[in-house]
Amino acid sequence: MIIEQLLILIKPDGVKKSLTGNILTKLSEARMVIIGTKAVKVSKKLAEAHYYQLKDKPFFGELVDYIQGKIYGEPWDRVIAFVYQGEDAIARMRKIAGATNPEEADPISIRGAYGRITTKGIYENVVHCSSDPSEAEREIKLWFQPDEIVNSVYSTKKIIAGKGEKTVWA
Ligand code: TYD
Repeated sequence: MIIEQLLILIKPDGVKKSLTGNILTKLSEARMVIIGTKAVKVSKKLAEAHYYQLKDKPFFGELVDYIQGKIYGEPWDRVIAFVYQGEDAIARMRKIAGATNPEEADPISIRGAYGRITTKGIYENVVHCSSDPSEAEREIKLWFQPDEIVNSVYSTKKIIAGKGEKTVWA
């Protein structure tokens, strides 16, 4: 079995609905370890980079607003980001997260239990879950600095920053 890492985000609708505990309980059934976590106020730049593959979709603008939590406002306009690690982690965590469309998701999955489709047609599906190892690597490097993750997972390099050195992704 291959050890994988992936990015999980509790999206602003999950934060607003106070689902953090419920989501973590469901995810804990897969017995993965958390190797990084933080709360993030998502900038437009980060949101667009995260969803760059969907930039030509008609719902891209609303998707960017959604992950930034714009429609919810203070104090819900944030996500809780996690890096999980474990055997076959991506497939197992995506199964617990459920299908992208909350109406099609298994009712006991996170998205099936807690997601909805807004009247504008946006899937408020509560969590983000990386889809494959290369996307997971891209997303983890986008959301986390090397020193925010307790296990070393990808190669890093040192660069000169001001008077000292800084470790960044290679
Ligand atoms: P996608 O990367 O296809 O799915 P997943 O999050 O399951 O990997 O889509 C990213 C997000 O875009 C998805 O979580 C919700 C939103 N979305 C819509 O609102 N409508 C859609 O038709 C699709 C495909 C996605």
